[in-house]
Amino acid sequence: MLTESMKLDFDFEIVKNDFPILTRTVNNKPLVYFDNGATTQKPNAVIEAIENYYKFQNANIHRGVHTLSQEITLAYEEARKVVQNHLNAEHAHEIIFTKGTTDAINLVAYSFGKKYIHAGDEIMISAMEHHSNIIPWQQLCEDKNATLKVIQINELGEIDLEDYKKLISENTKLIALTHVSNTLGTINPIKEMIATAHQLNIPVLIDGAQAVPHMKVNVLDLDADFYCFGAHKLFGPTGVGVLYGKEKWLNEMPPYQTGGGVIKTVSFEKTTFAPLPLKFEAGTPNIAGGIGLAAAINYVNELGLENIALYEHELLEYATKKLSEIDGLKIIGTAKQKVGVISFVVAGLHPFDIGVILDKQGIAVRTGHHCTQPLMAIYGVPGTVRISFAFYNAIQEIDAFVKALNKAIQMLS
Ligand SMILES: Cc1ncc(COP(=O)(O)O)c(C=O)c1O
Repeated sequence: MLTESMKLDFDFEIVKNDFPILTRTVNNKPLVYFDNGATTQKPNAVIEAIENYYKFQNANIHRGVHTLSQEITLAYEEARKVVQNHLNAEHAHEIIFTKGTTDAINLVAYSFGKKYIHAGDEIMISAMEHHSNIIPWQQLCEDKNATLKVIQINELGEIDLEDYKKLISENTKLIALTHVSNTLGTINPIKEMIATAHQLNIPVLIDGAQAVPHMKVNVLDLDADFYCFGAHKLFGPTGVGVLYGKEKWLNEMPPYQTGGGVIKTVSFEKTTFAPLPLKFEAGTPNIAGGIGLAAAINYVNELGLENIALYEHELLEYATKKLSEIDGLKIIGTAKQKVGVISFVVAGLHPFDIGVILDKQGIAVRTGHHCTQPLMAIYGVPGTVRISFAFYNAIQEIDAFVKALNKAIQMLS
C-alpha cells in the first residue's frame, strides 16, 4: 500500500475524467476496463490532437511547398522528437514510425534478416514471447535455413538466465526479447541480458509493447539495438508505432518497403534511397497517428511514469492478494518483478465463460491464449483470464471485479 511519504502527484478520479469512454456504462453497469494489455483508452488530449489535425492542419507531409504542408511537416517531425526524447535516443532519425509493434518487428526481421542472417545462423527468443515476436523470426529462419532457439522460463514465469547464457553461441546473430510479458506481467532483466549479448557483439531487439505504458524506457541506458512499441497501448491511437534502431544498424540495413517517400532519385534503371528515417517510411504515413502518439507521450509524462508505476503496483498487490483468497483460482505468472497484469485460471471453469459473465456485469477482461500459444502449452492450459491495469483503474474497481468473479464462479460451478 502507498504510504503517506509515497503520495502520488495525481488523483486517479481526476485523471479518469480525462477519458470520455470511462464515463459510459456497459450492460447497465459502470464500465470497469481491465483489458489495458490489449489496448488502452485515449485521453481527451490525444482525441483533440487528432481532431485538430483533421479539422485545421490536414495536408501531406515532406513534399509540399504550401503553408499547410510545411506546418504539418514540422509538427510530424516534432512528434518524432517527442518520441526521441521520451526514449532518450541519441538521434531523431533513429525513430522510425511504423504501423505498430508487429510492423516494427517485421521491419527488422525482413531488413536485418535480408542482410545479416545466413544458413546455419541462430536467432534467439524467449518462451514467453507474443506471436508478433515469434513468427517473423520463425519465417526468417525458414527462409534462410537458420535455427530459432528458445530460452526457457522457470515456474514463476521468469527467464532462466543460466539457460540464456548456455544457448548463446558464435552462431547467434540476433536476440529478440520482450521487455514485459503481456500474459504473465513479468518484467525481464533486459539490461543485464543485453550486456551479456554485447560481450559477443550480438545485437538485441526488445519488444517494448507492454513496457512503455508502465515505465520509463531509456534506450541508451539499456543499450538496446532495436526497441519496438505501438502507440495504442500507450494511450495513443491505433495504426501507429515506433521502431527505435541504433543509427549504425539502420544505416546498413536495406529498405523494408519501397515506393514513394523512401527515395533520393529514381530512374527506370536504378533507385537511390533517402537517408534515415525516410528510408524506412514508404508511402504517406499515419500523420494523425504520429501527432496523436506525441500527445499521448506528453500526457503520460505530465502524470509521471514513476507515479504511474507506483500506483499500478499498489493495484497489482491488492488484486493479487484478493485473487489468492479465492478457492480453486491459480495465478499464472508470479515473477518477483511484475507490472499490473494478472493471468489466472479457475479449476474446472473455462476462461471464456468467466469473461462472458464478467462482461454482463460491465467488467472488460481478456480471455484466451493472449497471442502466446507456446507459453500456454508450457503451463498446460488452453487459455487464461487476464486482467491488466492502467493508472485510471481503482481499488474499488478491483473490489467490484472480485465480487463479480465470485458470482461467475458460483454460477458456473
Ligand atoms: C508483448 C507484445 N508484443 C507485441 C504486440 C503486438 O503489438 P501491436 O498491436 O502494436 O502490433 C503485443 C500486443 O498485444 C504485445 O502484447
